[in-house]
Amino acid sequence: MKLNGNYSKLFENYLFAEVSDRAAKYQSAHPDKKILRLGIGDVTLPLADEVIKAMHLAVDEMSKKESFRGYGPYEGYGFLRESIKNYYKTFGVELNLNDIFVSDGAKSDLGNILDIFSNDNTVLVPDPVYPVYADTNIMAGRKIIFTNANEENGFLPMPEKVVKADIIYICSPNNPTGAAYSKEQLKEWVNYANSQGSIILYDAAYECFVKDDSLARSIFEVEGAKSCAIEFCSFSKIAGFTGTRCGYTVIPEELEKGGISLNKMWLRRQSTKFNGVPYIVQKGAEAVFSERGMAQIQQNLDYYRQNAKIIAECLDGLKIRYTGGKNSPYIWLKCPMGMGSWEFFDYLLNGAQVVGTPGEGFGENGKGFFRLTAFGSREVTQEAVLRIKNLLNNSN
Ligand code: MLT
Repeated sequence: MKLNGNYSKLFENYLFAEVSDRAAKYQSAHPDKKILRLGIGDVTLPLADEVIKAMHLAVDEMSKKESFRGYGPYEGYGFLRESIKNYYKTFGVELNLNDIFVSDGAKSDLGNILDIFSNDNTVLVPDPVYPVYADTNIMAGRKIIFTNANEENGFLPMPEKVVKADIIYICSPNNPTGAAYSKEQLKEWVNYANSQGSIILYDAAYECFVKDDSLARSIFEVEGAKSCAIEFCSFSKIAGFTGTRCGYTVIPEELEKGGISLNKMWLRRQSTKFNGVPYIVQKGAEAVFSERGMAQIQQNLDYYRQNAKIIAECLDGLKIRYTGGKNSPYIWLKCPMGMGSWEFFDYLLNGAQVVGTPGEGFGENGKGFFRLTAFGSREVTQEAVLRIKNLLNNSN
């Protein structure tokens, strides 16, 4: 018996587990203090009424012999895939029903998709970025090269012809920096991938925060993307499904490498290892895209956008540089007074009992940066901002 030795190359804890451990340790040492959490990007508003109604109806259906459902289709129910297809139409993307696979979330699919790729591929990962991309490839023992996202390039690295990569990760709007690619910039990535025969794994989990028309909601808005890209999206951020679990992956039917369909490979993978998302959850997800569902969800998104504005105004007042918060729920700030990311984490936790996420946890280039989320409640966001202001104003 041999264990997977690649696990020894990982940091001991997953980033958000580490953040939560440190906050828990602080809390047990200071039981009287109230910690305010703006670390993990977890939503705080309840599911929209339309979603809840649809789920209640689905529960009732499950109670009757005539409407009870057992195993569902591996790729998701047609009703949900149809509504996802129609959602994509709203930003000008035409998909086939067969391009869409429903799953229990983008994070799972981003890790699981690696099953269809050989371990000797080289992967290109932006630094900093959502730690799942690098961690899942480290687990598989793949060679990783990093592309620098930094202040100089506005945290939006562009392809460099000299770099050869088989699998390219792009996250836009970006977690953690909040930077988002324009369609023109994505076109450069698509051209680069097509010219090298590489695949882009495009994480669109935060597309619903895009307001600016020049920015892409989907990589499939770009011509040529269907021959080189797979897109991952989620109901977590758009509709508060972080605990309910539902997402989807788009693999165009025409996406082939060496005459082999990646879409068919993924269906083979999913039908072997996955038995689908509960019917009740898929009915809830379908309601997200109904007219009333969308209207309710837009109100929730606006609430989070307002939180982002509150945080941004606080940072403006403190003259702290930041990106994000406009087409993204994340605010990525430069740690004040030259502090390191974990140093600032401890400083905020000890001095203001506010938890954020150290930039360093997202990669080397995140050193000296810090991420705050706009997904907190209004009360927590306002209180956190007040405490941060007091702490920093008193230390100047
Ligand atoms: C984050 O805080 O980066 C996200 O919540 C993580 C995730 O979506 O898995």
